Amino acid sequence: MKGLYIKTYGCQMNVYDSVLMENIIKPLGFNVVSGAEEADLVILNTCHIREKAAEKLYSELGRIYLSKKNKETTIVVAGCVAQAEGEEIFKRAPFVDIVVGPQSIAALPELIVKASRSKGHVIDTDFPEVAKFDKLPDECYGNSQGSSAFLSIQEGCDKFCTFCVVPYTRGAEYSRPVNEIFREALKLVASGAKEINLLGQNVNAYHGECEGEIWDLGKLVSHIAKIEKLERIFYTTSHPRDMHESLYLAHAQEPKLIPFVHLPVQSGSDKILHAMNRKHMVEEYLEIIGKFRKLKPEIEFSSDFIVGFPGETEKDFEETMKLVEVVKYIQAYSFKYSPRPGTPGAERKDQVPEEIKTERLLRLQELIRKKQLEFNQSMIGKIVPVLFSGKKGKHQNQIVGKSPYMQSVCIDDPEGNYIDQIMNVKIQEAWQSSLFGQVHL
Ligand code: 5AD
Ligand code: SF4
Repeated sequence: MKGLYIKTYGCQMNVYDSVLMENIIKPLGFNVVSGAEEADLVILNTCHIREKAAEKLYSELGRIYLSKKNKETTIVVAGCVAQAEGEEIFKRAPFVDIVVGPQSIAALPELIVKASRSKGHVIDTDFPEVAKFDKLPDECYGNSQGSSAFLSIQEGCDKFCTFCVVPYTRGAEYSRPVNEIFREALKLVASGAKEINLLGQNVNAYHGECEGEIWDLGKLVSHIAKIEKLERIFYTTSHPRDMHESLYLAHAQEPKLIPFVHLPVQSGSDKILHAMNRKHMVEEYLEIIGKFRKLKPEIEFSSDFIVGFPGETEKDFEETMKLVEVVKYIQAYSFKYSPRPGTPGAERKDQVPEEIKTERLLRLQELIRKKQLEFNQSMIGKIVPVLFSGKKGKHQNQIVGKSPYMQSVCIDDPEGNYIDQIMNVKIQEAWQSSLFGQVHL
């Protein structure tokens, strides 16, 4: 057996792709090992969403090159930096053997053989006509991911937000057919999954085929919810422009769908939303939130924010702060705008100075943290179902799991009896990023 080491950066789509790559490669005689220095095949599955991704990749590659097991070790760069940088990677890191884009991972076995035969550079960054999912053998899907599993249902993006590289690195929107997704969900549940996170760059733009009809996400969720042993479903990441009735209804009627939606807004200013090509206004976003809350009062939201997009004034930024207050997000990711080569935002002359971006980000993050702490503290005394995933790092007496609001919840359980189970927990203490409680039988 040879050693395989995959290091994953970035989003959950990449985590899922890494599982697929592992499943494609293992049958070729590989075992997963825990470090690059023990591996015969090293894959870096990269992310290109924000700055310095390429720089970080080259320094990581340098480290791997120095520590590699032997001369024969094959080094692969996969993911979105591979797609964006292409041949450039061989110029800057000639010891890399294979560059493979996210749409071409099904070709990995061939690429590995080619690289070992030719001892030269091998690249595949095409956007193939046949979707990547159709090219992979069935055995690659639905292998055990434990009690919490990812399932990619949609990939790519046609929205072209002016800050974003995704439409260029992941290509056009593609939805997998319903039956293929359902089969994979069944397999995941049979191998222990209690919750499934349906993934897509624009997951609620899902429009998959089912026996001649087109299904949307709401319909798909209701169908998957019929799998008896599956207890929780969530989906990420959604776009405000792709909301539809059946998804609202699924939240209202389907108890397995968790009451938590990650709905990135990016900015609270109509002017900036327009400049970002988001194609919706703040008011419309608030209407969506209002509609969800009316149908499902316990629903909560998280978001992504970008501060310092070109042209953002103090007033625009204040509007973002106001939106955080109004929506009361229970958590959110926030980033300084990072000009990505090839995107319209990067061409603009009115870039915001770095110091201002830094200062705004700190203020926004402080507010988000405050909202998160308030929400966490509001859980004290409540009973919440928690799916426990494992031991809590240093605290060997404790195990940790996730609430339906994606909060980390710990309990004392030295024997680990509740690992991989969903238990009702009465919350006793709450901090910034975790809760503590006791099983409530
Ligand atoms: N600069 C900063 N943040 C970005 N994101 C995407 N592109 C950029 C960029 N160029 C953020 C958005 C998106 C999240 C995945 O990453 O907030 O929702
Ligand atoms: Fe990027 Fe916008 Fe598409 Fe999201 S919706 S992946 S931010 S272009």
